[in-house]
Amino acid sequence: MENTSAWLERARRVQLGNYAPAPIVLERGEGCRVVDVDGRSYLDLSGGIAVLSVGHAHPVLAQAIAAQASELIHVSNLFYNARAIEFAEALTARTGFSRAFFCNSGTEANEAMLKLARRYHHERGEAGRVEIVSTERSFHGRTYGALTITGQPKYHEGMGPLLGGVRTVPYGDLDAMRAVVGKSTAAVIVEPLQAEGGLVVPPPGYLAGLRELCDQSGALLLFDEVQTGYGRLGSFLASELFGVRPDACSLAKGIAGGFPLGAMLVSEKASAALPPGSHASTFGGNPLACAAALAVLRIFDDEGLVERSRTLGATLAQKLDAIVAEGSLPVIERRGLGLLQGLRLHDSIDPAATFRRLIDEGLLVSLAGGDVIRLSPPLVVSESELDEGLHILRRVLADAPRKSA
Ligand SMILES: Cc1ncc(COP(=O)(O)O)c(C=O)c1O
Repeated sequence: MENTSAWLERARRVQLGNYAPAPIVLERGEGCRVVDVDGRSYLDLSGGIAVLSVGHAHPVLAQAIAAQASELIHVSNLFYNARAIEFAEALTARTGFSRAFFCNSGTEANEAMLKLARRYHHERGEAGRVEIVSTERSFHGRTYGALTITGQPKYHEGMGPLLGGVRTVPYGDLDAMRAVVGKSTAAVIVEPLQAEGGLVVPPPGYLAGLRELCDQSGALLLFDEVQTGYGRLGSFLASELFGVRPDACSLAKGIAGGFPLGAMLVSEKASAALPPGSHASTFGGNPLACAAALAVLRIFDDEGLVERSRTLGATLAQKLDAIVAEGSLPVIERRGLGLLQGLRLHDSIDPAATFRRLIDEGLLVSLAGGDVIRLSPPLVVSESELDEGLHILRRVLADAPRKSA
């Protein structure tokens, strides 16, 4: 069996250099544990960056995928398939949205929302309403539409020209929104909690204010729930937590437990905006992905994962607050909600080196916003696993690598 360095050598020869993965090669997992090719075990509180909602190798999910794979994997959207119908029924029943469109990723679900918004106004005879307003520090994906509305210039570097008709204003600032939203606005798109931007919780009343503004101006309100969706914040959708209903939302990441699947949920008002032929995705909604998603929903119900995220999230918040309050570790504040929380590192600390040190100590996390240690564990995580992770975090932070002068 090959060891880590042999695999790394092979990877570096053939894989494109667009990622900079940590130098470990993961081979198998169970729940919140993963094991690398050298047999070393890690506690995974990153959960594949909020993807592994039901943990690694959940037997119900694994069995559902295997069973569906031996029956029917793909049929194309020239035909119906029962799993996609069942999954659309389940999602609409749970969320109150009217209709679902399926694709393969978060960026694709956001592209669908952008097209939905422009086409919605076009169908209503307002073809001039094309502008999309997004927010600074947002992250919506890497395809051109989603990239353009992503409010982080570093991702735009060298990629221009980007999509036209996009404006970006500071997140959390209703006045800034009011200044740009008007008759030419097709839609306002926000994350109900900015995830990649550093786990930024919206100020009270912000999302409700956006709802009001969109209602007044006739623009659609779109929520990107790719990272917050399905229980992550302690409610099924984040929009429920904030009591604000958008006209459409995007989902991906955890909805099929790691199997690639994206979704756009649409309210009745906008449900006719994409007529036949106006949008499509070859793999979108195939029986295999939808069987995985249905299994994930069953696991959510059987194991009470939304409730679990709410209660464990509250516990985690207390524990992280205690770390900040102690004042002896180089952290500035707690960020986030539910099982999407983290600690913002002091300016003097090197986040990337800290991330690597945590891996050396057997803990997998991720960074958000450059300086936030993000915990986005599988929702099946136990309190003792969280405690174990926080113990490692404390130990590493006590002697955290500093930035070189
Ligand atoms: C809020 C949000 N939207 C969209 C995306 C893009 O999703 P994907 O990488 O599946 O295209 C991400 C990924 O991190 C995300 O966090």
